Order: sequence, then C-alpha cells, then structure tokens
Amino acid sequence: MSTAISPTAYNYKVVRQFAIMTVVWGILGMGLGVFIASQLVWPELNFGLPWTTFGRLRPLHTNLVIFAFGGCALFATSYYVVQRTCQTRLISDSMAAFHFWGWQAVIVGAIVTLPLGYTTTKEYAELEWPLAILLAIVWVTYGAVFFGTLMKRKTKHIYVGNWFYGAFIIVTAMLHIVNHASLPVSFFKSYSAYAGATDAMIQWWYGHNAVGFFLTTGFLGMMYYFVPKQAERPIYSYRLSIVHFWALITLYIWAGPHHLHYTALPDWAQSLGMAMSIILLAPSWGGMINGMMTLSGAWHKLRTDPILRFLVVSLAFYGMSTFEGPMMAIKTVNSLSHYTDWTIGHVHAGALGWVAMISIGALYHMIPKIFGRPQMHSVGLINTHFWLATIGTVLYIASMWVNGITQGLMWRAINDDGTLTYSFVEALQASHPGFIVRALGGAFFASGMLFMAYNVFRTVRASNPEDAEAAAQIAVVGAH
Ligand code: HEM
Ligand code: HEM
Repeated sequence: MSTAISPTAYNYKVVRQFAIMTVVWGILGMGLGVFIASQLVWPELNFGLPWTTFGRLRPLHTNLVIFAFGGCALFATSYYVVQRTCQTRLISDSMAAFHFWGWQAVIVGAIVTLPLGYTTTKEYAELEWPLAILLAIVWVTYGAVFFGTLMKRKTKHIYVGNWFYGAFIIVTAMLHIVNHASLPVSFFKSYSAYAGATDAMIQWWYGHNAVGFFLTTGFLGMMYYFVPKQAERPIYSYRLSIVHFWALITLYIWAGPHHLHYTALPDWAQSLGMAMSIILLAPSWGGMINGMMTLSGAWHKLRTDPILRFLVVSLAFYGMSTFEGPMMAIKTVNSLSHYTDWTIGHVHAGALGWVAMISIGALYHMIPKIFGRPQMHSVGLINTHFWLATIGTVLYIASMWVNGITQGLMWRAINDDGTLTYSFVEALQASHPGFIVRALGGAFFASGMLFMAYNVFRTVRASNPEDAEAAAQIAVVGAH
C-alpha cells in the first residue's frame, strides 16, 4: 500500500530517528558501563591514559545512558504518544528535526569533552556552559513542539500519559537552567553561581529531581500509554492516575536533601528530605499498582508475549526501587548505605530494571508500527533479550547489595580500643567478587541490546515507511 501521505498524517520520521538512536546509544552507553565495571575488576584497563581513566569515563557512561539512551527513548515515545492521543500531527517538522539533530550534537559534545576532562564537576550536569546552553535551546524547542501539538489536539481531553510527559519537560527545563547558572571564565571552564552548602543543595535538588522527573515521570508517561496498549486493556483506574500524578509531582521536589545526610546542610532540611522521601512511597506504589492492575484479566498474555513481560517486570523493579529508596533515605539506614555499592545497586535497580526495561518494551511495541510492519522480525529474539536483561539486572543488584552491606559494616567495625578493625583496602578486597558478578550481569544486559539491534535491523530492512504513514492516516480517522 503506497498511499500518498496526507498532511494530517503523523510525523513518524522524527519518532523513527529517535527510536533508532535509542538502540545505538543504549549499546554504546551500556557497553561503556561494562567497560568501567571491568576497570573496577582489572584496573589495568585504565591503560594509564588520562582519557580512559574510570574518573573520566564514568560521567560519560551516565550521560550516555541517561541523556542519550533514556532521552531518545523519551523523545521517540512522547512524540508518538502525543500525536496518536491528540490525533494530530506535530506542530512543526522543522522544529522537531532541530530537536533531533541538536540533541545528537549535545551527545557528541559530551563524548568529546568528558574524556578530555572538561567538566563542571556537578554530577549529571557535567557538561560545560556552551553545551549546556545548546541543551537548553534544544529543550525549549522540544517543549514548544510538545505543548504546541497538545494545544492543537483534535480530542477533547488530554490523555494522562501526556500529563506525565509534560511535567517531565517543564521540570527538567527548570532544573537544568537553575542548576547550570554559572560564571564562565573561559570557553571550557565555568564556576557555579552558588557557593558552599547552597551549591550542594541546588545540585541535589537538581540531581534528585533528575531522577524524579527525567528517570521516573517521563517513563511513567510511557507506562500509561504502552502498558494498556500492549495488554489491550484500559488503564486500571483513571481516577488513581490523576491522584498519582499530582501526588508524585508535589512530593518529589522536596526529597533532594536525602542525598546530603550528615553534611553541612541544616539538620531540619535533611529531616524534611527524609520525611518527604518516606511519603513518596505512596504515590510511587500507587502508580506501580495502577500499571500492574491494568493486566487484570490479561495475565495469561504474559505466557506468550515477551513485550508485555518487559513492561510488567519493569513495573516490578520500579516498585522495588521505590521501596528501597525511601528506606535508604532514613538517616540511620543512610549512615550505612551512603558511599557504598548499595547506592549503585539501587541506582541500577531503577536504571536497568525500570528505565531500560520499560523503554525496551515500548520500543518493541512501537518499532513495527512506525516502520509499517505487522510485528518485530523475531519474537523469539525478544524473549532471549528479556531473559538476558532480567538475569543481568538481578546479578547486578544482588552483587551490589552484598558489596554495599559488606563495605558499610566493615568501615564501621571498631575494636575495643576504638581503632578501626579493617583498613579500606581490606574492604576493597572483600568487594572484588561482587565487582566480577556485576560486570558479568552488565555483560548479560548489554548483550541483550545486541540481539535487539539485530532484530530492529531486520524489521527495518523489511519495512516500508510509507505504509506506516498510511496506517497513521487511518488511525487518525479511526477512534482510539
Ligand atoms: C520513592 C522513590 C525513591 C527514593 C525515595 C529514592 C531515594 C534515594 C536515596 C536515599 C539515595 C541515596 C542517596 C545517598 O546516600 O547519596 C538514592 C540514590 C539514587 N537513586 Fe533513588 N530513590 C527513589 C527512586 C529511584 C528510582 C526509581 C531511580 C532510577 C530510576 C533512582 C535513582 C537514583 C540514583 C541515580 C541515585 C544516585 C545518586 C547519586 O548519588 O549519584 N531512585 N535514591
Ligand atoms: C550494562 C549495563 C550497565 C553497566 C554494566 C553499568 C555499570 C556502571 C558502573 C560500573 C558504574 C560506576 C559505579 C561506581 O562508581 O562504583 C555506573 C554508574 C552509574 N550508572 Fe550504570 N551501568 C549500566 C547501565 C546503566 C543504565 C541503563 C543507566 C541509566 C538509565 C545507568 C545509570 C548509572 C548511574 C546514574 C550511575 C551513577 C551512580 C551513582 O553515582 O550513584 N547505568 N554504572
């Protein structure tokens, strides 16, 4: 079917571009994760060169997986969801194209500058001011395309998934701009506009809400569209989804101080962060339950549908990491977990189990649709990917729990005379087996991405994008 493309059909081109780059950056970012995990096992892999040391490659890993992989997944799905649920085309193709190319330019900028050692030193906000300004311009363009499209929607109400995407866009812009306020002293160096404890507070207000709005709220937007679609069931409760939305965005913004327990930050601010983090369990689990219960009456589909498995298991890991997080925010628990691999395990329970798994599930659902194919090239390969990802995540987080608790207990062990029982190096030696298991788990997860790349390649090669545009045209006419 090669119908002429009507101007009212959706802009799937930008969705396709972001979807493909999600897979590409996923492989690179996770491959780099496996590499830095291996450096912790075999330090020789630092090669004695400044550009390849753990300290420089670690922020490149976080930038690639969060902003390149996670970002592209969020952009692809949000553009897909906003068009389909509003039954209208993006307001501007050229602005969407600028968003795509501008974002890729920022990522290439990160790949060049971070190994060279150019960094603001603020975690997850390392990019120096020229790149940070480009990022802000690209982001505002994205916001204009997304909200402009919402405004010209042909449907009466705004589907809840778009509320979550919308909050993610607005809050990320606010965080980025406020935290990046700085004084440039050269083209590659700037100093933060804030000082001391204020700087730390602003940074972790940013850092925590990058987790809350980038790694959580955006992906919840994804969840609210793709879980019901793949399960072919309406969302369990619309009422709960609205309560979930307002409760989540009201509470998240206060929890940042839990990253600064036992520091120079005023004690009341630490306790406030702790209390808000504990309360945050309620909306987090409300959302998780809303997603899970959508499968009521469709559980049997899990036996045959590996895409649904990705989506449901991601929700299970979301539930797990949002239980663990509030627990780690309790000051006495944090006094053990902070600085240890427990934090790293928690991060990747969220990052691999939740963020990556839901993105992968959503992409497997969406890719055939945007490339005009009935389904992915191989369902068997999706299943293989699912098991590699699940086993990889479990190996990763279990080894980090063991390491984290071992480290925490060894560091605080004290002899009768008040001296430390163990030296730091002894705790490091005890961590070595865990580092090996983590690298293995990471290799499982990353190899799953290679199966995905092959599956996507075969699906795309057999595709006819015009069919996708024509199908979109039919979808506009049809009801959702
Ligand atoms: C209710 C939800 C959550 C709460 C209350 C929470 C709480 C926490 C706490 C207390 C820490 C340790 C802070 C420290 O000792 O330095 C932490 C670290 C972290 N969490 Fe969560 N967490 C939650 C959910 C998540 C999710 C779903 C993700 C990922 C998708 C995530 C990603 C991270 C990251 C990346 C860090 C490390 C930050 C850093 O030090 O660089 N969290 N979280
Ligand atoms: C194959 C998969 C992956 C492997 C092997 C891996 C490995 C690593 C390693 C070794 C570190 C440094 C830990 C340390 O400093 O001790 C790290 C940090 C981090 N990774 Fe990954 N990673 C993977 C995937 C991901 C993904 C998909 C995300 C996000 C979506 C992610 C987000 C992060 C974050 C936020 C940190 C910093 C944590 C902190 O500062 O507390 N990683 N990763």
